[in-house]
Parts: sequence; structure tokens; C-alpha cells
Amino acid sequence: MQAAATCNHVSRIFNPGANEVRALDDVSLTIHKGEMSAIVGPSGSGKSTLLNIIGCLDTPTSGEVLIDGQGVVGVSKKELAHIRSQKVGFIFQSFHLIPVFTAYENVEFALQIEGTTKPSERKDIIMPLLDSLGIGQLANRRPGEMSGGQQQRVAIARALVKKPALILADEPTANLDSKTSMSIVEQMVQLNQEEGVTFVLSTHDPMLMEAIPRVVRLLDGKIVDDGLEG
Ligand SMILES: Nc1ncnc2c1ncn2[C@@H]1O[C@H](COP(=O)(O)OP(=O)(O)O)[C@@H](O)[C@H]1O
Ligand SMILES: [Mg+2]
Repeated sequence: MQAAATCNHVSRIFNPGANEVRALDDVSLTIHKGEMSAIVGPSGSGKSTLLNIIGCLDTPTSGEVLIDGQGVVGVSKKELAHIRSQKVGFIFQSFHLIPVFTAYENVEFALQIEGTTKPSERKDIIMPLLDSLGIGQLANRRPGEMSGGQQQRVAIARALVKKPALILADEPTANLDSKTSMSIVEQMVQLNQEEGVTFVLSTHDPMLMEAIPRVVRLLDGKIVDDGLEG
């Protein structure tokens, strides 16, 4: 199976010196294309640090990271931003939508940054996507006029629209009630199964873990279970 992302012996140390924090300690992990995995572990175990490094928002202190086969450690900031815009979609705990943009415009903005879709083709990509997530009728609403679950669906659409190699979601349901959380995760599982979208999300909700095929367990910056058989 091809790798969407690989970490080889990745460590991330914050505040090197006497008070250093080893947020990731020699982590090796392969996320395969088409896989759906959850990174789980107690608060402070390194989930966000790992997702930030896989998503090229942060760089490791040591070790190697490959995204869709491409090495990303040591490349320039500019190139990193380019890789990120082409290959990675992000979904955040607090949605991070642009408040003055409508749902449609928030999704369109991701396509604009990605840069390869002609403006005239955007609508035919965005509207079916919003429809498939059940929010087509909310296309002209701003985030402040939507519920948390609706806003997170817009964020999912924004992450999906450029068809990235992988989608990273850091505690995407932490600000949602349990019923909405389950429905959001079920939608991600469906996108994974039907469209082959590669998802990595972090959570500490046991109910959500049940729904996710591969569960990677982190403790004190180390992988204690990589979620694969054997
Ligand atoms: N920017 C930072 N500066 C210093 N320490 C940090 C920073 N980010 C994370 N840490 C520390 O790294 C460890 C892992 O944090 P994090 O990856 O946020 O864990 P999780 O997402 O599992 O709660 C924690 O001890 C945290 O305090
Ligand atoms: Mg975190």
C-alpha cells in the first residue's frame, strides 16, 4: 500500500535545555493511502504536535517526514507552504472559518489558494460537495449564522475541495455535542470508504474511536500501539 505520510524516528523537543519538553520521542509511523486513523492519548501526549508535523505546520527537531512520497524536513518555508496547500487539508477543533465569508466563500478560498482550478469551474465543484455534506442550502450563510455541526461540515468541505493526499483533523469534534460528533465522524468514515479520502484525526472520545478502523495510541510522546495487527 502506498504511503500518504511517513514519520521516521521523529522527535520534537520544545524549550531545549533544562526544562525541555520531549513532545514526540522517536515516533515512526506510516499512514497509508485510503486509510482512516485516529491518534488517541491523554492530554499532553503529543497528538497535536504529531498532526502539526505531519501537516507541515511544524518541523521536527530530528527525524524524517515524507508527505505523499516527498521529504519535507529541511525544505524552505515557502516550499513547505506550497506542499501544505497542495497535499494537506486541515480541520480544526474550533473550525477556523473566515467569519465574513459565507460557507461557499470559505470553501472557494481554499480552491483559490490551491490555485489550479479555473474560477469558472469552482461552482460545479463546491456546490455538489456542500450538498453531499448536507449543507448545500446554507451556502450563503456566514459561520455566525450556523450551528457548530454545520460549521464543522463547512470546514470538512473546505479541507476536501482541493482533493488533498490527506486530511488532518485535530480533535474535530471537541466543541460539538455527542450526537453531532458521531454524525460528523460517520460522515468522515463514509467519505473514507466511498471516496478513499485519507483521514487522520485525533480524539479522546472513546465513542468515536469505536467508529474508526485504525487507532494509534500515544503516551508521553511515544507510540504505544500503532493500531496495526501483529
Ligand atoms: N509550542 C510549545 N511550546 C512548548 N511546549 C509545547 C508546545 N506545544 C506543545 N508543547 C508540549 O508538548 C507536549 C505535547 O503537547 P500536545 O502535542 O499539544 O499534546 P496533545 O495534543 O496530545 O494534548 C505537552 O507537554 C505540551 O505542553
Ligand atoms: Mg492537542
